[in-house]
Amino acid sequence: MRSGETDGFTLVTAKYKRGRAVHKTPAPQPTTSTTHTTSLYAATSTESTTSTTTVLSKKNRRTKPIHQHQDVTQSANTAAIDSLISKINSKRYTIRTSGYLTSLQPHLDILLEHNPDEIICYGLGSPLASPVSQWQLALILELNHGLGTLPILAFDPATTSQDHIALGKLNVSLISINEEAQRAVSCRTLFYMPHCEQFLYENLVRANWSKERIPQLIILGNRFARYREAQGLEEFKKRSVFLDLFLECLDTVVELPGESGLRVRHCPYAFTDTCLQRVDRNKLVSIDFGNEKDEDEGENQPELGFEKNDSSKTKTC
Ligand SMILES: C[S@@+](CC[C@H](N)C(=O)[O-])C[C@H]1O[C@@H](n2cnc3c(N)ncnc32)[C@H](O)[C@@H]1O
Repeated sequence: MRSGETDGFTLVTAKYKRGRAVHKTPAPQPTTSTTHTTSLYAATSTESTTSTTTVLSKKNRRTKPIHQHQDVTQSANTAAIDSLISKINSKRYTIRTSGYLTSLQPHLDILLEHNPDEIICYGLGSPLASPVSQWQLALILELNHGLGTLPILAFDPATTSQDHIALGKLNVSLISINEEAQRAVSCRTLFYMPHCEQFLYENLVRANWSKERIPQLIILGNRFARYREAQGLEEFKKRSVFLDLFLECLDTVVELPGESGLRVRHCPYAFTDTCLQRVDRNKLVSIDFGNEKDEDEGENQPELGFEKNDSSKTKTC
């Protein structure tokens, strides 16, 4: 790059300004290159008045006004969001055409039989930042298509404002508060929680631990029994007493098919150890829900590993 040029924009100095009045007293030269590189998008009024060195657009030979800076940022945002949506659509297409969707038919059948009214997604991650999240989002959109397009609501603290716009365009609504997965339901709900941490599953089951609510849940997430196997019964019960109760009444466990079925060059590892889980209503009969309370604040309740979010509330569909 020639001296005097930054990123395609020319720093026009007195040397290059023929026939123009030049300040007699040399004005202070820019102390850092930042002064001018930032001016690429917006030449501030300070720069234009205090420096003889003016940043000019190569094409128009005019300073760039601030609104053009905003335009550039805006169009970069729009491009990133459009690109994200097309990546998700392309993954949906792969799921549909590779045969993977066909292998999901048993899962879809169980879901259709469960007949959820809505889908809650926790812990998808940031689709903008992660191809794994894109795959996971693509999968739930495809499953939802098979379910007749239910309302989908999502929350992950890792999402960005660009993720939010993209999710909105894909008809996924945002949950505006961090519920810590403690949403107590009053309608049949599919919870999609791919690769979430154990405490989130525990919170969810705990918040819904009643005869009425727990059968309304169907969870597509990590296999709970695997935590128990890995941690040993005693440690598992210490950490996740409600997951242990859930496992006692477990009915359905159907793991997602292997990702080789996607027929993509690099396995995304987006659906590993992910299965549909729900309780068997008949097994609930023998369960003592004696300590069950709507607000779950009873003395007999085991303590959560973190402070309970006051904002958790019952959702009515
Ligand atoms: C192990 S990562 C999994 C991310 C992604 N699903 C994947 O498989 O790569 C767990 C995710 O849970 C999210 N998470 C943590 N606390 C959460 C909360 N209270 N509600 C929803 N998601 C949460 C994290 O931000 C993170 O994206």
